[in-house]
Amino acid sequence: MITILRGELFHTPRSPFSDAGALAWFDDGAVAFDDNGGILTTDSYLAVRRIYPDAEVHQVPDAILLPGMVDTHVHYPQLGIIGAMGLRLLEWLQTRTLPEEARLADDTVARETARSFLRQLVANGTTTALVFGSHFPRAQDILFNAAQDSGLRITSGLVVSDRELLPELHRTPEQAYDASEALISRWHERGRLRYAVTPRFSLSCTDGMLEACGAALRARERLFFTTHLNENPDEIRVVAELFPWSRDYLQTYERFSLVGERSIFAHNVHVSDDELSRLATAGACIAHCPSSNSFLGSGLFAMRRHLERGVRFALGSDVGAGTSFSLLSEGQFAYIAQMLRPDGRRLGPAELLYLATAAGARALELSDQVGDFAPGKSADLVLLRPPAGSTLRAVLQRNTSPEARLGAIFTLAREASVCEVRVAGRVVHSTLEAHHDARDRGGAGETPRYRRERRGA
Ligand code: GUN
Ligand code: ZN
Repeated sequence: MITILRGELFHTPRSPFSDAGALAWFDDGAVAFDDNGGILTTDSYLAVRRIYPDAEVHQVPDAILLPGMVDTHVHYPQLGIIGAMGLRLLEWLQTRTLPEEARLADDTVARETARSFLRQLVANGTTTALVFGSHFPRAQDILFNAAQDSGLRITSGLVVSDRELLPELHRTPEQAYDASEALISRWHERGRLRYAVTPRFSLSCTDGMLEACGAALRARERLFFTTHLNENPDEIRVVAELFPWSRDYLQTYERFSLVGERSIFAHNVHVSDDELSRLATAGACIAHCPSSNSFLGSGLFAMRRHLERGVRFALGSDVGAGTSFSLLSEGQFAYIAQMLRPDGRRLGPAELLYLATAAGARALELSDQVGDFAPGKSADLVLLRPPAGSTLRAVLQRNTSPEARLGAIFTLAREASVCEVRVAGRVVHSTLEAHHDARDRGGAGETPRYRRERRGA
């Protein structure tokens, strides 16, 4: 059976950083997908309806359809510390974050945290994420299990450290390798899950631990690598002291062959030109985490320099230093950070949408499947609906241009506007009055707020 979702539709099949006309918009648009959730066509509603007159049409009044969001950096154990104020990175880690992460030694805490974390992710419209995991192998196993049940596309891995900060979280390099290898065999490329080798950051790893990470990364094909880089001046100073042989922060990872096309480094706020050139040559990607960079006072991302040097980047929420799971909110923070930088890149809503969707899909080597609504990709999408009486609704009523409307969405649409989320066409989150996936429910159960229209059949 073919399903059509109808609504105002935005996506960025091309990059607006290189193509001014990259924003695709349909005032009354539609996506048609097949039983496997594969997109057949995306166009104006009338054009799609003409091709598939017998398809089942799902339409919610005032619906806005966006591709599922891609979060390239978010910490599973940090849900509970969002909003921990008054601290910069190292004291924030020492006093608030790592003690919270240590609670995941308890399986019951890990289970509840994993479920809640995934629920918040999808409730904010995120369908794909690179998730910074837990220091505890069992808690990491629990996350993978819960992620499998959620239907979301999750890449994640055990976090490893063997010095500094909180000793409770340390493992020896041998333990870290063995535990990572066991998790890799169990979860890498199983359904929508993949594994990322994840040292916390050089500051909390010895040479031996980074070497073990390199070995783990070579244990299987197509593994990912993620960590933190150049976030905060104090952190960078300590890394320089701990690695006297290294000419800069990036080299602490390069030495152990950890920098490549499947490497995603969070932050990179205070980066030298030389490091940027090497990141570009390696094809590595940056998870730009603008709300976190502001919240911890880390600094303003040098976006123009990344663009000039050809270093790829996409958005990350970095919960719990980030202020929410919403990549719409991250888009707004990214915009503001660039306005505040003297050399800031003036961003528009098309760039924000690209950074929240297609850029992340590219970073995670999933752009053949997700990131926009091109035919052949998977119907991963967010259905937004401005709440009755909301500021968003009032602003949208007064604006007809796609740029103004999408700008308002990035500025005002948050969790309360996320009505439904689908992965491969299947509903994975819904606040509509009755949960309704036509294929799951045999087409039964009309809801007042969700109209199904069937013609010709
Ligand atoms: N650097 C090392 N660990 C962390 C973390 O949990 N959050 C952030 N923002 N930076 C880090
Ligand atoms: Zn982080």
